[in-house]
Amino acid sequence: MEDVLVKCEKLDHFGRGLGHVLGKIIFVPNLLPSEEALVKIVLDKKKYMIGEVIQLVKRSNDRIEPKCLYENCGCGLKNLDYFKTLKFKKSKLIEILKRYSNLEGVVKEIVSSDDIYGYRNKITLKVKNGKIGYFKNGTNELIEISRCAIASKKSNEIISILKKSDLSEVKEVIIKDFGELMVIVKGNMNVDLLKPLASSIYINDNLVYGKENIIAKLGEFKFYVSKDSFFQVNMNVAFKLYNKVLEYLKNSNSKRVLDLYCGTGTISLFLSKYFDEVIGTEINEEAICCANLNKELNNIVNVRFICGDVSEEIHYLKADNIVVDPPRSGLTNEGINDILKIGPDRIVYVSCDPMTLARDLKLFKGKYEVKEVTLFDMFPWTYHVESVCLLIRK
Ligand SMILES: C[S@@+](CC[C@H](N)C(=O)[O-])C[C@H]1O[C@@H](n2cnc3c(N)ncnc32)[C@H](O)[C@@H]1O
Repeated sequence: MEDVLVKCEKLDHFGRGLGHVLGKIIFVPNLLPSEEALVKIVLDKKKYMIGEVIQLVKRSNDRIEPKCLYENCGCGLKNLDYFKTLKFKKSKLIEILKRYSNLEGVVKEIVSSDDIYGYRNKITLKVKNGKIGYFKNGTNELIEISRCAIASKKSNEIISILKKSDLSEVKEVIIKDFGELMVIVKGNMNVDLLKPLASSIYINDNLVYGKENIIAKLGEFKFYVSKDSFFQVNMNVAFKLYNKVLEYLKNSNSKRVLDLYCGTGTISLFLSKYFDEVIGTEINEEAICCANLNKELNNIVNVRFICGDVSEEIHYLKADNIVVDPPRSGLTNEGINDILKIGPDRIVYVSCDPMTLARDLKLFKGKYEVKEVTLFDMFPWTYHVESVCLLIRK
């Protein structure tokens, strides 16, 4: 098929340029609103096409020189002025909440990231035929990299060392940098060169150097970070987000609060200063182990962690306030019904997926007023957005 001229009308929810050509919608990564480009069609489906920019014909004033040199590595908004990326994320959430849960006027602000480069405390690198990089979006085609603009300085130093190492028997390398650094190698390699930088090195599931867990500091708290447990990837934005959860709850005259999907207990510990009792529940045993260690590490006595599936545990729990921070898939219908049965005064919903948030808010709407939603730019340059939503019982 011949190359086509595409005029970008707007960005779709994945940050791709959207236009119309040959009677179909076309999605073109790295094409910005008002720009025109000569585009190669790489996928032609019945209702839509996907294209690749061959040559930019008209350039937007909002286009910037990206710090990331690689295409299709995940930072789909890297060519757009940072403040325009925030505007895009806010309007995306407004549009999704209106379209899927008929909510208007609830999105307040988007909180930016202080660090827009080097902000990630965890990166997962793929290795193929001894070469290291990221997989091209949605494929297992390797984009070889020599540095990553959103990874920390130390993680980039590790990348430089890895590039000089024999990676022929390695499949994946995870780097966690919380000041202290953990490297997790899937496969086999000589890790001697990594030792001067790392506090902890795993090969597959075995600790081969240093400590089992590393320590992350967030505000006045310290947290153990283990090999497999979840931690928000952007410390500075996580801190602002946890404080927003607190702000939404702390004047509520409540005594007990539930932190459902609590991970390693970060939100629970933040809440512990303002409530008589906090109960966190989490399915991952290792995360609960860390949560209990975190409790001790911070000398906190009014928090209790339960390891189990929220959908089971919730039947035995009661509280005036509930925080939910589920995975991308959101809550289940049963989960929402269970929360409605408990009937807390306030619910704070922390979400990393606007679509599942909109779906779930619709089910809460009969009994709860969606008071406000604050957005957090946890993942600069990507289309992803984190939101915190306050619901108050009617
Ligand atoms: C987005 S993370 C939230 C972590 C935590 N609130 C934080 O800020 O670090 C979601 C957590 O939900 C946990 N999870 C997933 N399904 C679950 C379930 N059915 N019951 C309990 N926890 C679950 C995951 O293990 C993960 O730790």
